[in-house]
This record gives sequence, structure tokens and C-alpha cells, in this order.
Amino acid sequence: MSLYSPLKINSIVIPNRFMRSAVWEGRSELFDLAPPELQEYYHDLGAGEIGLINSSHTYVSEDGIATPRQLALFDDSFIDAHKSLVSAVRYGGKHMKIRPKFFCQLAHCGSFGEDRCVAPSDWTVDFPGVKGLPKNLHALSIPEIQQIQDDFAAAAQRAKEAGYDGVQLHGAHGYLISEFMSPKFNKRTDIYGGSTVWERSRFIRELINKVRYSVGPYYPISIKINSSDFVEGGFDETMTAEYVKILETFGIDAVELSGGTPISGKHVPIRRGKSTCWYENIAKDVYKHTGLPLFMVGGIRNPRDAERLVKEGIVDGVSMGRPFVRETDIVKRWIHAHEEGERAPVSKCISCGLCLGTSHEKSLYCVPESKLQGK
Ligand SMILES: Cc1cc2nc3c(=O)[nH]c(=O)nc-3n(C[C@H](O)[C@H](O)[C@H](O)COP(=O)(O)O)c2cc1C
Ligand code: SF4
Repeated sequence: MSLYSPLKINSIVIPNRFMRSAVWEGRSELFDLAPPELQEYYHDLGAGEIGLINSSHTYVSEDGIATPRQLALFDDSFIDAHKSLVSAVRYGGKHMKIRPKFFCQLAHCGSFGEDRCVAPSDWTVDFPGVKGLPKNLHALSIPEIQQIQDDFAAAAQRAKEAGYDGVQLHGAHGYLISEFMSPKFNKRTDIYGGSTVWERSRFIRELINKVRYSVGPYYPISIKINSSDFVEGGFDETMTAEYVKILETFGIDAVELSGGTPISGKHVPIRRGKSTCWYENIAKDVYKHTGLPLFMVGGIRNPRDAERLVKEGIVDGVSMGRPFVRETDIVKRWIHAHEEGERAPVSKCISCGLCLGTSHEKSLYCVPESKLQGK
């Protein structure tokens, strides 16, 4: 199979197998969710010929906020702002040869919010002295769990109304969905906990059913999950394939494999340095066990790696985050080189991770690129 060929996800077809992984831009205020700079960024992504673009993490319940100036969809009043992002992607220029599809990433941060955090259980006692542990952690009651599932379903319906082609559930990085799956973060003794993958998947199984009911059978629902938490006693690669099979049975349409949590040391979700294709070995195993379209993110910078991963049947598509912070048109240039039989350039992103700090400060940009431009 070729990276440059289309791929079906439920009722839609994405024009190639490149995905923009969700990357928080830090540009959304609640009173102004989609300012012109953010629309412009999505316009540029849309013009970049990426087959499938995910929005940045969009919180579905008020207590699910992870970061400042984050996209939100916990209320109908935000639908219009999302419509403007959808238009920005869709009308990325009259010369667009490829029309990308656009999904809204729906998220609840669980333990890793900035203020009052909720989680399956209070797991912090297991990590004395570890930096970045959540404060004021509150273990969810059963009615609270079910309310959050309803919030995901309502947000998905709003995303559909805003015109997104599908939704991506954020089930990775120690966010709430992944915490329910993880034996380290989920210590519950009621129906939402247990010692097996099946038992700990109740939260996501019910959540998928509710989201599916709200958006209908033909609307694509994808999910980003951890291949491993890289935390001792956490969700690990021995569980990933089984989890993906459950997701497939319950109606998920595509999977993006990521990994890590904020307390995973050098295996955090946003690694620095030269390592590439971080989850390749785990993806190879998962691929054998599922018929779902499978994507993988993490350190993919070289078009030769991207082509190989799809050609060798390790994944169906490749996902990138930071390369689109540095150059929104990198995929367009890879496609052009492929069509012309030329050697495609490697992404200029050096995985320094400095862009994460820029989102915290004010808004996302690439620090080395900005220095080069003399800004
Ligand atoms: C500034 C920044 C913001 C991010 N925001 C999100 C997010 O909103 N949702 C998410 O699932 N991952 C988020 N990530 C993680 C990326 O989607 C991706 O998984 C990670 O950066 C590894 O891929 P890469 O090496 O291609 O960047 C973010 C990463 C960065 C650098
Ligand atoms: S700041 Fe560093 S990690 Fe972020 S896009 Fe630029 S080069 Fe890549």
C-alpha cells in the first residue's frame, strides 16, 4: 500500500495517509475561541494537503480543561467558532489539489489538569516525590463518570453540527480515557475497575456507545490511544492489541497510536532528541490483530520512514505533530517530490520541544524557525 493512496474511514475517504496529530495552539479564549490567527493557521494546514487534520484537544466538560487558551465544546455557544475553523480548513485556497478531512479531537484531561483534577481513583500516593503530580485529585463517583460520558456524546454532536468530518477521542497521554484503561491509574473496585483489560474498558465501551448514538452509524469516530504508559505497573504493550480489538468491536473507526504520560520520564508523549518512529514495534504487533485503519505518531520526520511504515504494512498511515508547527506545507512538498520522482526533504523539525513552551506563554510557534526569520 502507498502513503499517497486514499483510505476509507467509516463513510469517508481521506485523500492520502498523512494525519496532523492534535497540537494545542494556545490561541483560544472562551470569549474568542477561533481568533483570526487561529483560523489562518488552520487555513494553512488545510492548504497543506494533509489527508486528515485533527483539531487540537477540545475539552468536553468544564472540569476537563488541561491547558490555558484551549479549544472548548462543552456548550452550544461554541459551535459557531468551530464552524469558522471548519471553513478555514475546507477553503484553504482555490488551488487546493487535495481536500483534507477534518476531525475534532475531544478530550477530558483527567488527572493532568491545571486546577481541580478528577480521575478514576487517587493514584498519586504511589508516586512519592515525582514532579508534576496532580493536586486536589478527586476520584469520580459513578454519576460523575456517566455525566462525563454524556458530555463526550454532546460534544460529538456539536462537532458534527459544526461541520467536522469526524471526531477523535483523546484516549492517550494519561488523559481520563487512558487513565481508566491503566492498572496504575485505575484502582477502582466497582464496575469501572478490575484486573483485566476488558473490565477496565467499561468506561470507554459505554462512552463509545453514547457517542455513536449521538452522531449516528456513518459518522467517523477515531481514537488516539497509548501503545504503553511507560510507567511501572501501567498500561503496557502486552495489553494494546487486546484493547484495540475491544475498540473495534464497539464501533471505533480508526486508531492513532501514541504513548506516555506526563510522569513517564524520557518516554513522555512529546520526546526531545533524535529518536524516530517511537512506537513502530508495538504498531507492528497491533496491526496484525486489527482490521481498523491504524496510524502512528511520534518522531516521524523523514519521508523515507513514512513511506516504509505504510509499504511494509506496519501502519495504514502516519501522523505528525510538531513538523506542522515548523512547516504547514511539508506534506505538500513530499507529495510534489513523489509525483515528480524527486528526493523529498526531511522535516526541518528537530524535536527540541520548545514550541510546547510557546503555547503555554501565549501561542504556538516554532522557536528555531522564528529565530531564522529574525523575529
Ligand atoms: C505544543 C504541543 C501541543 C500538543 N497538544 C496535543 C493535543 O492537543 N492533543 C494530543 O493528543 N496531543 C498533543 N500533543 C502531542 C502530539 O500530538 C504528538 O503526539 C507528539 O508531539 C509526538 O509527535 P511528533 O513527534 O510528531 O510531534 C502536543 C504536542 C505539542 C508539541
Ligand atoms: S520548536 Fe522545536 S520541536 Fe517545535 S516545531 Fe520547532 S523545531 Fe520542532
